[in-house]
Amino acid sequence: MKLTCQKELFSLDPAVHYINCAYMAPLLKTVETAGVEGLLSKRNPQTIDKSSFFDMLPKLRQSIAQLIHAADPNQIAIVAAASYGLSTAAQNIPCSAGQNVIVVKDEFPSNYYVWERLCKEKGMNLITISPDENAADRSTNWNEKIIAAINNETAIVAIENTHWMDGTLFNLAAISERLQEVNGYFIIDGTQSVGMLDIDVTDLKIDALVCSGYKWLLGPYSIGMAYYSERLLNGKPIEENWINRTRSDQFASLTDYSHEYRPGAIKYDVGETSNFILVPMFLAAVNQLLDWGVKNMHDYVTELSQPMIDTFREHGLVDKNEKGFSSHLFSVQMPHGFNVEALSATFAANNVFTSVRGTGLRISPNIYNTKEDLDLLQGLILESLKQ
Ligand SMILES: Cc1ncc(COP(=O)(O)O)c(C=O)c1O
Repeated sequence: MKLTCQKELFSLDPAVHYINCAYMAPLLKTVETAGVEGLLSKRNPQTIDKSSFFDMLPKLRQSIAQLIHAADPNQIAIVAAASYGLSTAAQNIPCSAGQNVIVVKDEFPSNYYVWERLCKEKGMNLITISPDENAADRSTNWNEKIIAAINNETAIVAIENTHWMDGTLFNLAAISERLQEVNGYFIIDGTQSVGMLDIDVTDLKIDALVCSGYKWLLGPYSIGMAYYSERLLNGKPIEENWINRTRSDQFASLTDYSHEYRPGAIKYDVGETSNFILVPMFLAAVNQLLDWGVKNMHDYVTELSQPMIDTFREHGLVDKNEKGFSSHLFSVQMPHGFNVEALSATFAANNVFTSVRGTGLRISPNIYNTKEDLDLLQGLILESLKQ
């Protein structure tokens, strides 16, 4: 299915050119309505009955499982943040002194501190793989370096699908294949890709895929998802909450304490997981993604981004390798000494919103963006290069 612009389904200010989903997605109107209904339900708490605690979560797990091609919805936990889902993985991976954890340079902090701490606590080595900025093909070279670093002592590779700062694509299939040879655990932070780039956790033999929900999943802030493979399902949650135990739906006998967790990854759900505002919002968002189809969304965004990518490649400002990064999140690296502050002021004056990171512009369009948005952004950058 070929998608057209879906801007009318959002409440974005018509005067604004918001090309910054990597920062935060705008709300779909349906998601907004679901949240308002959830909020208002607490005016009359008697309307929040037992079913409100339990009925929507299986639907949310089911939709997320479908989105990421997980075999069983009970492999999905609902978390408060990516960091929460990563901590659960770190706590449950069997590993010991002398082994190593591999991360990449400038990894997002939520996918760094957790491994730094694990390594300190267990006497393991944290190995950071950096790109070779002078390589003829930076992204291929970076991927090769990651694969070459995996050895018999590798317990974990923790990486993203697309690097959050510049969209570099990591070759998950090749990394997974090498990691399986040494029986390592494959941990993915999908926050900057899931919902826009298709991912198959089963095919890729991913052990944990975590995503905060407020970017490409189009959800609200403070809710996210975590998928865990079979071999991570028998671990311990990072907190003990009442709802994750069996018989938690029997409100009259909650103090007949249960010594059994609910099945699969449900035990890893964050406390108060039945959030009556955030869960319906997240469900509405994920169902919209399923309706559109992630591949269709990606095609739409690629058509928007491609002319701009080609233009800036001619200027030598984007990665030479077309397959080195994704069209939904890419970086235009401004020349050395370029006045980024002046460009930021120009963006602000023209109601253009995109991220400035050092001398790089991180451009991240989505389904609500138009050709006009991208043309304006490109024109302003080209103009600023002349100054
Ligand atoms: C790659 C990546 N992971 C995670 C997050 C958010 O982390 P958390 O949900 O732990 O706040 C971000 C936010 O920018 C991100 O870019």
